[in-house]
Amino acid sequence: MSAAEIIRKAAGEAPVEIGLVLGSGLGPLADQAGNAVSIPYAALPGFPRSGVSGHQGRLVIGRLGGRRVAILSGRAHYYETGDAAAMRPALETLKALGAGALILTNAAGSLRPEIGPTAIVAHADYVNWSGRNPLIGEEGDARFVDMRDAYDPDLRARLQSVAARLEIPLHEGVYFWFSGPSFETPAEIRAMKILGADLVGMSTVPEVILARRLGLRVAALSMVTNLAAGFADAEISHKDTKAVAAAGGATLARLIIGLLEDGI
Ligand code: HPA
Repeated sequence: MSAAEIIRKAAGEAPVEIGLVLGSGLGPLADQAGNAVSIPYAALPGFPRSGVSGHQGRLVIGRLGGRRVAILSGRAHYYETGDAAAMRPALETLKALGAGALILTNAAGSLRPEIGPTAIVAHADYVNWSGRNPLIGEEGDARFVDMRDAYDPDLRARLQSVAARLEIPLHEGVYFWFSGPSFETPAEIRAMKILGADLVGMSTVPEVILARRLGLRVAALSMVTNLAAGFADAEISHKDTKAVAAAGGATLARLIIGLLEDGI
């Protein structure tokens, strides 16, 4: 059986409207879904075997903000396997279940000192200078995806209006994908700053490319967990990433539920 068939059997035939990917420490949002059915990734062919702490590794189908959502709680990162397309089967499954939009979340470092830990930043654009792309190896003209509006302009505008209504400060910025798993050097961060980065992180960009390839509308939100290397004296650790993301997670959850209620 395909992953989509297993999910339909467990959670019902009603189409999913929106997919949601939860990053480091942001898993608790999945517990807020109503009428929820939870399926471990291990039971779903092609889904990632996420071994990163802070990532749950389960799919939750349920209702959130009045919409039927599929929540990927935990993601595969390029640095785990060297496969930039590791999330392809999971995202194809969301598409097969009916999703028309994808909301991505992650923890990120900030290159803007005034935007510090627990700040929320909507992605306006990204820089992928990794030389990696999840579509490498695909054949046919559909691989040449237009990335001018990688992040859906309407979703970006709605995020701003929902954030204003809920009185949640929401920044916008450019996310620079860095493979990890080591954090960046201060020199790398200075270089990224020159290249236009506001945020740095180890995920999300491959998923944006895959989702655009599938024709999904995409929005992405970062929870800033630290200032990037060289901007502060503090040590940068995955432990702190998880702790800060968890501390700010409730606000990010409110924003996402507000966006869903707004009728994306
Ligand atoms: N760099 C890369 N990824 C991150 C960071 C960082 O400083 N913080 C959280 N994820």
